Amino acid sequence: MSENLIPTGRLTVVGLGPGSPLQVTPEALAACEDATDFFGYGPYVERLTLLPHQRRHASDNREEISRAAAALELAARGGKVCVVSGGDPGVFAMAAAVCEAIEAGPPAFRQVEFSVVPGVTAMLAVAAKAGAPLGHDFCAISLSDNLKPWSVIEKRLVAAAEAGFVMAFYNPVSKARPHQLGVAFDILRAHLPGTVPVIFGRAAGRPDEKIRIELLADARADMADMATCIIVGSVETRLIARDGKAPLVYSPRSWSAGKA
Ligand SMILES: C[S@@+](CC[C@H](N)C(=O)[O-])C[C@H]1O[C@@H](n2cnc3c(N)ncnc32)[C@H](O)[C@@H]1O
Repeated sequence: MSENLIPTGRLTVVGLGPGSPLQVTPEALAACEDATDFFGYGPYVERLTLLPHQRRHASDNREEISRAAAALELAARGGKVCVVSGGDPGVFAMAAAVCEAIEAGPPAFRQVEFSVVPGVTAMLAVAAKAGAPLGHDFCAISLSDNLKPWSVIEKRLVAAAEAGFVMAFYNPVSKARPHQLGVAFDILRAHLPGTVPVIFGRAAGRPDEKIRIELLADARADMADMATCIIVGSVETRLIARDGKAPLVYSPRSWSAGKA
């Protein structure tokens, strides 16, 4: 390398999994070991055990773009930077925010060595606790209308229900959006049988984990909070009752409910 070139740094977006240390991948641990600066939402950077030369840069969860730009600026100056996300960083998380900042930012951002280390996303952690609800085709929908209109969400709910997808809902409620999940369940009840299983997976992988299984007919918004990922079955998803144990929820691999 010529002496007057500033060394290009690197930025790795790392998924820390849903909460259990056992669900942090060896690749994520290695990426963290190799970085000096960690950017992320406060609770996620707090999960890291840092060495003396490593620094945390915690920020609020609404500050994704400014966090991404700050991380890119440090990497463009030669830093070894990690941006951390819960779950998988590509699922409603920081990998896309960093790409947005690269696209909108100065040319130096495009020279940063950029990589993404995947993690176990919430819907997979919740599904694993309930059986195999994602055994057939499925989709993931964020119920937050912060970055898209609610009318788009309603349209996608109807389309997914009618197309026979199992649905995983991220960001189902927040203090600012307490009513939308109830509306979503009402929409689904108009398009799916009330017997469809619904899994409320709260804080999967953490000490306060709670998995609750209901039927769509009985599902209510107050059964979820912002730490919950909800899986709504398709017409094919079923429960296997087991004496003395929670039922298994699964979606058979083959479709028998007729042609579309
Ligand atoms: C901004 S999204 C981030 C998703 C994350 N990147 C992932 O892959 O799981 C936040 C939402 O993910 C879900 N979530 C994250 N961690 C969870 C966990 N441990 N258990 C259940 N749901 C979780 C909740 O729906 C929450 O509102």
